[in-house]
Amino acid sequence: MRTAYLELLKLSLCDLAGARTLSVSRSGQTRRRDSQVLCRELPDEELALRARGSDWPFSGLTMVGLKRLDDLQVCVESVVADQVEGDVIEAGAWRGGAAILARATLDSLGADERTVWVADSFRGLPPPDRRRFPQDRELDLSRVEFLAVSADEVLGHFARFGLDRGVELVEGFFDETLSKLRGHRWSVVRLDGDTYEATRVGLESLYPGLSAGGYVIVDDYGLIKECKAAVDDYRREQGIGEPIEKVDWNGIRWRRESEPGPRAASPAARARRPSPRSSQPARKRPARAGIPTERELELERELSELRERLKSAEGPG
Ligand SMILES: C[S@@+](CC[C@H](N)C(=O)[O-])C[C@H]1O[C@@H](n2cnc3c(N)ncnc32)[C@H](O)[C@@H]1O
Repeated sequence: MRTAYLELLKLSLCDLAGARTLSVSRSGQTRRRDSQVLCRELPDEELALRARGSDWPFSGLTMVGLKRLDDLQVCVESVVADQVEGDVIEAGAWRGGAAILARATLDSLGADERTVWVADSFRGLPPPDRRRFPQDRELDLSRVEFLAVSADEVLGHFARFGLDRGVELVEGFFDETLSKLRGHRWSVVRLDGDTYEATRVGLESLYPGLSAGGYVIVDDYGLIKECKAAVDDYRREQGIGEPIEKVDWNGIRWRRESEPGPRAASPAARARRPSPRSSQPARKRPARAGIPTERELELERELSELRERLKSAEGPG
């Protein structure tokens, strides 16, 4: 029953359990802020996109796909079985789906003493900080409203599945929030913030608290070169030798072998942990209905062509 529950949950989180699966995609220069967002139904032959975690779900609660969810479940099961100390954190949660699966896996094992921490701005990505992180100069997702999901909504998604106990939201941009979590013990650290900055700040703030036997999972190592660079730089600078394991075409992870230094476990540091839902008020979320379909975009184009023709027919007089 536990396996059946988790399998069904994963399908549902990916929006693969219903009659239709709607997908959101962007056109033009997808790494630029002016890239357009539109929505379409995935035909049967393209459902594999969702299973692989290659598209953006219109309704689903996670974009990471089944393989990365399976692997997250395996990591959580492994730290519980091996009694690896620490909580689970996802930094970069969007609608919360991956973190929901982590909570469900812990609950299904009776490991409800472990908290799932969900860190996000809950208002999308910040503009690139080109001075501190020049590596992000070509990657600007700060205007993609689709990536902005409020804290209330995310909590609501946990509640829908009856999984809202043992969850702490850490609200705000990572450079302000994650360093305050230094000193906390983690058994699984999942980083999914896309950029060099998000990945680097996540590693610097959370990796020192990762227990031996714990996992660090990085979602976009395969797809986003800025994310890969942050991981490679940090591993090189810290002399991390544990081998990187490929989860799928995009995700990677490694299992820490060394125990964290004494600082990570100090009670003083633990006391600095932020109160949940602390800092910033969530920005009002744009209506999901604002994403046009392909047909609507086509009509918009036709309309503007007609306007142009009308203008030239009217002539200067
Ligand atoms: C790709 S989405 C995460 C997908 C999610 N893990 C899932 O299961 O579908 C990236 C998330 O990271 C957050 N994010 C990126 N950079 C951030 C930063 N510097 N501070 C706070 N949140 C950030 C965004 O708000 C967004 O929710």
